[in-house]
Amino acid sequence: MQKLVLTGMLAALLFLSACVLYGKPGGEKSGKDLFAQNCSGCHPDGGNILNPRKTLHGKDLEANNIKTPRDIVKKMRNPGPDPTHPQDWAGMRMFDEKAISDDDALKIANYILETFK
Ligand code: HEC
Repeated sequence: MQKLVLTGMLAALLFLSACVLYGKPGGEKSGKDLFAQNCSGCHPDGGNILNPRKTLHGKDLEANNIKTPRDIVKKMRNPGPDPTHPQDWAGMRMFDEKAISDDDALKIANYILETFK
């Protein structure tokens, strides 16, 4: 009988720790996952299939005055028109807070700065 109780308690403990380890229901996504989901279509490996001069690598970012995670979030929120583009459209999709929350946007930004140097 005592053994049964002990097994039960152990099972409960295992279940609880699994909940803690594997996080909240719904699951939080990492910057890497979010990038893969939202950005990698146009920026595979930090490149840029539409404008090869504006990749996500440090040299290009710096040349375009994008230096902090906030600067990257700004670009997501407002990719902006491109005066050199015939349709006055830079080609990047806009991501508002409904598409990507501020928290997630910062996760993506940090991932970019850490990954593509
Ligand atoms: C539909 C294609 C597309 C998608 C999707 C896209 N981008 Fe872009 N991105 C572009 C284009 C085109 C540019 C160049 C825009 C310009 O001329 O300023 C760009 C530029 C940028 C730049 C500036 C790069 C530089 O060197 O100046 C950053 C940062 C950036 N994108 C981040 C992101 C992030 C983060 C995501 C996902 C949340 C994303 N992009 C999704 C097409 C895209």
